[in-house]
Amino acid sequence: MRFTLGSVAAIAVVVVGGYFALRPVTIKEAERTTREQVQVEGRLVASAGLSDGVLHGDARALAHLDDLVQAQILDTSVVRVKVWSRDGTILYSDEPALVGKHFALGADELALFRQGGAKADLSDLSKPENRYERPEGKLLEAHTAIRTPNGTQVLFEIYERFASVSANGSRLLRALAPPILAGLLILLLFQVPLAWSTAARLQRGHRERERLLASAIEASGQERRRIAADLHDGVVQDLAGVAFGLAPIADDAERRGAAAEASALRDAIARLRHGVRGLRTLLVEIDPPSLESTGLEAALSDLLSSLEAEGIATELHVDDGATAGSTGDPLVYRAAREALRNVHSHAAAASVRVDVTRPAAETTRLVVTDDGRGFGAAERERRRAAGHVGLTLLEGLVAQAGGTLTVRSAPGEGTTVELEVPAT
Ligand SMILES: Nc1ncnc2c1ncn2[C@@H]1O[C@H](COP(=O)(O)OP(=O)(O)OP(=O)(O)O)[C@@H](O)[C@H]1O
Ligand SMILES: [Mg+2]
Repeated sequence: MRFTLGSVAAIAVVVVGGYFALRPVTIKEAERTTREQVQVEGRLVASAGLSDGVLHGDARALAHLDDLVQAQILDTSVVRVKVWSRDGTILYSDEPALVGKHFALGADELALFRQGGAKADLSDLSKPENRYERPEGKLLEAHTAIRTPNGTQVLFEIYERFASVSANGSRLLRALAPPILAGLLILLLFQVPLAWSTAARLQRGHRERERLLASAIEASGQERRRIAADLHDGVVQDLAGVAFGLAPIADDAERRGAAAEASALRDAIARLRHGVRGLRTLLVEIDPPSLESTGLEAALSDLLSSLEAEGIATELHVDDGATAGSTGDPLVYRAAREALRNVHSHAAAASVRVDVTRPAAETTRLVVTDDGRGFGAAERERRRAAGHVGLTLLEGLVAQAGGTLTVRSAPGEGTTVELEVPAT
């Protein structure tokens, strides 16, 4: 769409710009044509209409010249003819009122007597010599010097309508416009489909990538669930069974009075049970309770209950409608899990508080605050160097999802982990 608009704008610039660029060219061209015209017509007048009588106002000579001018020179574009003597007297004009009037000739006009040739310019209709031409509108005047039969030089002048001059220019523009426009249109016709297909390809690629990513995530989820199921149905059941089976044997040993044997068996049973508990915890980690079925609030409350079991006071607030929806909730859950795990392992806190709010329509915010021992940047750096990267990994995940993670802490001041994720 943008591409098409841009192309149309470019065509408009070419057409309008071309019009203004060509206009002066066509006017120059018209002036040249008018100069040629005044020379051709000047030669015609000199050879066929101009007699020496014109120089001193002879009526027959003037009438003869007038016949020629009326018949051969005046037409719809040439509207006036004047013949000047060198001193600025109008010897002849098709406008009788001008004959015999005197107006000073300009320097360029006088130069034509010496150098020959012709010149053409826009008429200055405010000049008194041009007062009879005013009703004709914009005019181009052209001069050339010609000679009477006895060799006296006079100045021959014609006035041409500017409209017919600019009509020439318009004709030139009209002739040039179709090929230019056709060329641009062809360019557009070739490029629009190209741009269209490129955009479509990009979009397809984008969708394909999203699909691949989604299926990769789905595949890893399936794999995790499979491992969890195998562990649960295999190793966990076996170990639980062994512990179960050992208990009567230990009782038996005790009855027989084999105290050492009995205590070794009880120790083994205790360790097996501990191992099974550990495996069950691991199962929950590998395949966490589905947030969709249990809901974020219940999942967070589960996370907190293990802290509570250790005597830490906990508080949980989830605002109505604050959860981030299917895409954001797992991230909120993971962030809360890492933060609470850190509280459990590092904070030595007396209380911890979890808040989930929606500060803006498109954002979900999770805040986990503890009143534990806190930590400084140097400590975190040291732990990171030793391979403890829980928060760092989390930062990466959050950035990938377009969210922000802020960890505020100082030794002795507790720790606040704040997460903001886009909510859908
Ligand atoms: N709530 C907290 N109270 C006190 N110290 C903390 C807290 N959270 C993090 N820390 C400090 O910051 C360090 C970095 O935490 P991070 O979660 O990145 O790594 P870790 O917990 O040490 O190891 P991992 O998460 O990889 O098992 C911790 O080792 C700890 O010193
Ligand atoms: Mg950690």
